[in-house]
Amino acid sequence: MLLLGLLLIGGLPTATAVSLEYHRFENAVERNLVCTDGTPAGYYSKESESGSNTWYIHLQGRPWCYDYESCKKRADIDQVETTDPTTNFPTLEKFGIFDVLQQDNLIYVPDCSGDAWLGNTSRWGHNFRGRAIVHVLLQELPFQENSTVLLAGCSAGARGAMVHLDFLRPLLPPGISVRGVLDSPAWQDLPLHDPQQGTSLAEQTRLAYELFSPPISPWCQSAFANQTDTWKCLFAEYALPHVQEDYFLFSYLDDSFQLHTDLNTKPPFGPNQLTFARSLAARINHTIMAAAAAGKAVHAPACYGHGVIEHFDHFENVSAAGVTVAQLFVAWLSQPMANSTLSPHAIPKQAAVDRCTTFNCGRGCPAHSPSFVHKQEQERDREHEDEQQEEEEPSDDEEKEPRRVIKSTLPMWLLAVFSASGGLIVLTGSVSGYILYKRRQERAAFDKIYMPLTPLDGDDAPYWPNNSLQFSPTLEL
Ligand SMILES: *[C@@H]1O[C@H](CO)[C@@H](O)[C@H](O)[C@H]1NC(C)=O
Ligand SMILES: *[C@@H]1O[C@H](CO)[C@@H](O)[C@H](O)[C@H]1NC(C)=O
Ligand SMILES: *[C@@H]1O[C@H](CO)[C@@H](O)[C@H](O)[C@H]1NC(C)=O
Ligand SMILES: *[C@@H]1O[C@H](CO)[C@@H](O)[C@H](O)[C@H]1NC(C)=O
Ligand SMILES: *[C@@H]1O[C@H](CO)[C@@H](O)[C@H](O)[C@H]1NC(C)=O
Ligand SMILES: *[C@@H]1O[C@H](CO)[C@@H](O)[C@H](O)[C@H]1NC(C)=O
Repeated sequence: MLLLGLLLIGGLPTATAVSLEYHRFENAVERNLVCTDGTPAGYYSKESESGSNTWYIHLQGRPWCYDYESCKKRADIDQVETTDPTTNFPTLEKFGIFDVLQQDNLIYVPDCSGDAWLGNTSRWGHNFRGRAIVHVLLQELPFQENSTVLLAGCSAGARGAMVHLDFLRPLLPPGISVRGVLDSPAWQDLPLHDPQQGTSLAEQTRLAYELFSPPISPWCQSAFANQTDTWKCLFAEYALPHVQEDYFLFSYLDDSFQLHTDLNTKPPFGPNQLTFARSLAARINHTIMAAAAAGKAVHAPACYGHGVIEHFDHFENVSAAGVTVAQLFVAWLSQPMANSTLSPHAIPKQAAVDRCTTFNCGRGCPAHSPSFVHKQEQERDREHEDEQQEEEEPSDDEEKEPRRVIKSTLPMWLLAVFSASGGLIVLTGSVSGYILYKRRQERAAFDKIYMPLTPLDGDDAPYWPNNSLQFSPTLEL
């Protein structure tokens, strides 16, 4: 499956990749610039060769944790608490927005702090230092006079960027302008479809606010003056309208991350689930429109998906209202700063929002696999009939099953070599098997952390931007 994924990447007409180089923070441990497990944090970078004074700083988005249980699970099961790639992965290939901005200074900060870049604390033996990492990075980068800093992120990374945006100016030399690029943070305060299943995104945010207690901008603070509401400043639905700095906001109207969290299943959806998806889309649209009315640039295709800017081909191909994400982004970047006080009610030209109102109905959506489209069309037809009685679709467990096959292949092969041969052959077989095994493990660890393996969407449309987590069952040997 991994090979298939890599073949697919290789086989498609892709944009070029940009190669970034890893740097550890100096004295990282002494300065508490560490991953969850206390290992040093760092970042990938490529400085402009043409002397550009635009700095694109991308905060990676990975699952966060917000209470004892989720933090323990993140550390024990997901094993994503450490990412120091100094020896094994000194370079990183990035696509999408990195390709479009390849003349500029590019920074990619791997998320190993598990706190959506909000924390500066330690708890239950885990470190949460995302906020300190962002602040120190911004203070140490060699910005030139009149630089533009684009603080960007996807998903949890966009949440972090949103919260940090109005704190940046005091950290930077005077005269530097700051703009945000927020990919897929527009989550909504909705209860879970089945309240027994998990923790709603809003409740997670309430808990995370208690755990990380990041500073809150005065603009947001005054909008949510009651202390019991301060967590809302970490939640895009509430917080985005109070962000002062200019930003570019992207969200799919059928955000697959929230749908997956709230519905606890993936498409094809039944009628009730589709109704839930409609209410989510209407609310995301509302958030998008509020940002547009405040003079920000917004791009919102009526599609099922999550995360676009890092994708090797979606950033330049996915469109809303006939405009691709990259086109709108480039237009926004070349414009002077939006000035929200100039035209508070006019929707600026920098808005591309689909208007169709059924699930995944946009014309410029990412290509899903034929079976996804086929099933979705059936669902759409069903939705148009009179509301029939509730009918839950079976979960797609069976569809995931084939991915587990590789899991046991190698050890079984080793066993076969052991039982079928003797002496030197066994030794050679097991040694090379072991090397292969280690390589695959390293590769799997790397993929889990960095690789945007999104081309395999479709039935399993990514609900996580670098949705490599979906591949972990296949890769854990
Ligand atoms: C993080 O905490 C340390 C003390 O542990 C402090 O020196 C530093 O200023 C804090 N950084 C931020 C960004 O809060
Ligand atoms: C920075 O901007 C100021 C004001 O627009 C201008 O006078 C100055 O020459 C600029 N500096 C550089 C290095 O471009
Ligand atoms: C703050 O909100 C809580 C819960 O909604 C409410 O009980 C309390 O009275 C509010 N406090 C103030 C000062 O408005
Ligand atoms: C993306 O767009 C490019 C250029 O328009 C095109 O060559 C490529 O086939 C597209 N990729 C997909 C997957 O549609
Ligand atoms: C933004 O609008 C305010 C109020 O109309 C004005 O004073 C300010 O100069 C404008 N800023 C820019 C950058 O256009
Ligand atoms: C989004 O909101 C705008 C303005 O309220 C409305 O005109 C448009 O129909 C909405 N689009 C969708 C897809 O709900």
